[in-house]
Amino acid sequence: MLLFILLFSINPVFSENCIFNVHYVTQSSSFPSNCSQIIGRFRIDENSQMTNDQLNNLFKNIREIRGVLQIWNTQMTTVTFTKSIQNITGDPLDRGLSIMNNTKLTSLNISSLMNSNEKVEIQNNPNLNLQKMCSVIHDVFFNRRFISNNSFDCGCEINGPFKWPKVKTFPENCVVLYGNLKIQGNAPPFEVLYRLLTVTKIYGSLEFESTNLETLGFLQNLQDIESGEDAETTFRLDSNWYLRRLDLIKLQSIKSRNPDSDARFFQNDELCLDPAFVQLLARSSLRKIESNSGMEYCGLDKINNPSTYCTGKLSSMNDRCIRYLGNIIYTNGVGDYSENINATKIPQADIKKMQQLEFVFGGIYIHGTALTNFSLPNLEEIYQMAAVRTPTGDRFEPWYALVLRKNDYLTEVSFPNLKMVFRDLLLVANANLTTDNDLCRKIANSVRVHGAIGMNSLYDCSLFFIEKKSIRVLFTGPSLPAVTTDGS
Ligand SMILES: *[C@@H]1O[C@H](CO)[C@@H](O)[C@H](O)[C@H]1NC(C)=O
Ligand SMILES: *[C@@H]1O[C@H](CO)[C@@H](O)[C@H](O)[C@H]1NC(C)=O
Ligand SMILES: *[C@@H]1O[C@H](CO)[C@@H](O)[C@H](O)[C@H]1NC(C)=O
Ligand SMILES: *[C@@H]1O[C@H](CO)[C@@H](O)[C@H](O)[C@H]1NC(C)=O
Ligand SMILES: *[C@@H]1O[C@H](CO)[C@@H](O)[C@H](O)[C@H]1NC(C)=O
Ligand SMILES: *[C@@H]1O[C@H](CO)[C@@H](O)[C@H](O)[C@H]1NC(C)=O
Ligand SMILES: *[C@@H]1O[C@H](CO)[C@@H](O)[C@H](O)[C@H]1NC(C)=O
Ligand SMILES: *[C@@H]1O[C@H](CO)[C@@H](O)[C@H](O)[C@H]1NC(C)=O
Repeated sequence: MLLFILLFSINPVFSENCIFNVHYVTQSSSFPSNCSQIIGRFRIDENSQMTNDQLNNLFKNIREIRGVLQIWNTQMTTVTFTKSIQNITGDPLDRGLSIMNNTKLTSLNISSLMNSNEKVEIQNNPNLNLQKMCSVIHDVFFNRRFISNNSFDCGCEINGPFKWPKVKTFPENCVVLYGNLKIQGNAPPFEVLYRLLTVTKIYGSLEFESTNLETLGFLQNLQDIESGEDAETTFRLDSNWYLRRLDLIKLQSIKSRNPDSDARFFQNDELCLDPAFVQLLARSSLRKIESNSGMEYCGLDKINNPSTYCTGKLSSMNDRCIRYLGNIIYTNGVGDYSENINATKIPQADIKKMQQLEFVFGGIYIHGTALTNFSLPNLEEIYQMAAVRTPTGDRFEPWYALVLRKNDYLTEVSFPNLKMVFRDLLLVANANLTTDNDLCRKIANSVRVHGAIGMNSLYDCSLFFIEKKSIRVLFTGPSLPAVTTDGS
């Protein structure tokens, strides 16, 4: 009651005669013809004794229900009186639309529905085929749904954790799955887990925590993931000590309806990643990839399309290879303040190979060389996931993807096609390189999508270590504090 009074008092559009509170619809119901919006909880049930035609007439002017519509236990065969209703707001205590136990119902028309804030419930209508309403239900309710046990349900669903024995009745042949797939602790038995093999789309997030899983191969046919507005994370893997591989070999799209949704990976010590998965994540609409420690890439023997990558010595690399898996390291280990007597010479042939690369899954570290200029004209994306220890004992944190350090003769750098850097780019102690903010900005501006993956990521061109001779182009997500140096 309080809610209705509140709505009434803040919304002058509603006059008292459109407010019905809890209303059991019967033949004597009537809605004033000037109420296109009615407020209340409207129930049509076995006591209503109304035909669809009578309901059509009763609801003909109604475009919005501020509250709840329930159609329960009727003998109706078709429900079309709902066809012009655009909004059913719902009620925080209840579903917006509830259609239950209508044994003869075969069809429903809610084709004008555009908005609802609450859940939909359509259950136990054994003859109701929802096929023609699937796209409306998807658009309006997405995964806020309890739809089951009708003749056609528009997908199957998970409500709550995917946990034995609750998921005993999870259906076979589920192709489109609504709801968050969350496994915590031991996974359900093999027979049940592998019912997920048929799933190609998940409208919800994926979360695996402290499981005993070694692979996510039971999702090997999964193509698309799209999480809902409330999904803080769309893909989360935490403390899966036995997980070795994801084996999501058909996955091609990861999205979220929440622009701030992240991917999070923590403490999956045995896990290695397929570079294609990392690239997919980075190109997804997720805000950022969070992980406290590094993550290894799988070796070529453990990834999906090994022949599209090259790895190992640049000198033995094929001339047409554009995707490199591994770290490219040239270093003599010289200190930042030492004289660089034995500057490393990178063979021209290696330079050419490096310059043909478009995608690097690993890092590039150029330290103590005699290079005068350095350009990677074709490089578009570089993703470093793990920490790197160089042959001379330096350790780089996983977030440095591209490092140029103590190259005394270096005067020019350019990466004209670089679009994604996961995560940071470090230029330090290259004595002759004028590393001012202009250079930093030039680099940062040429990278359209940054390490923290997000079109509007900020960058921080901190000058550090050696004044004016070092920059760190640090790409951070919008949520992290970052300093820009555009003078404002
Ligand atoms: C509808 O008409 C009644 C009677 O004329 C009037 O009191 C009421 O304010 C009107 N309601 C709306 C929503 O215009
Ligand atoms: C339905 O809700 C939308 C969004 O809140 C609003 O723009 C529209 O006017 C509403 N329609 C009706 C008939 O109230
Ligand atoms: C629908 O039927 C089931 C099983 O008979 C019953 O438990 C449930 O209360 C009914 N729901 C409604 C809304 O009447
Ligand atoms: C639902 O009703 C609308 C409006 O009358 C109509 O155009 C549409 O074809 C109906 N949809 C179905 C599936 O019957
Ligand atoms: C499915 O619906 C039928 C008919 O309404 C009902 O008898 C049965 O109990 C329902 N099953 C479940 C699992 O709800
Ligand atoms: C330079 O390289 C030569 C040959 O590898 C080595 O003997 C010498 O110690 C190096 N000098 C310095 C300062 O590292
Ligand atoms: C240096 O510049 C020359 C001429 O522009 C180019 O051919 C060469 O590949 C560059 N070297 C590096 C290491 O980028
Ligand atoms: C910088 O460049 C000059 C020539 O342009 C060269 O003589 C010098 O050795 C380079 N390195 C340093 C540290 O100045």
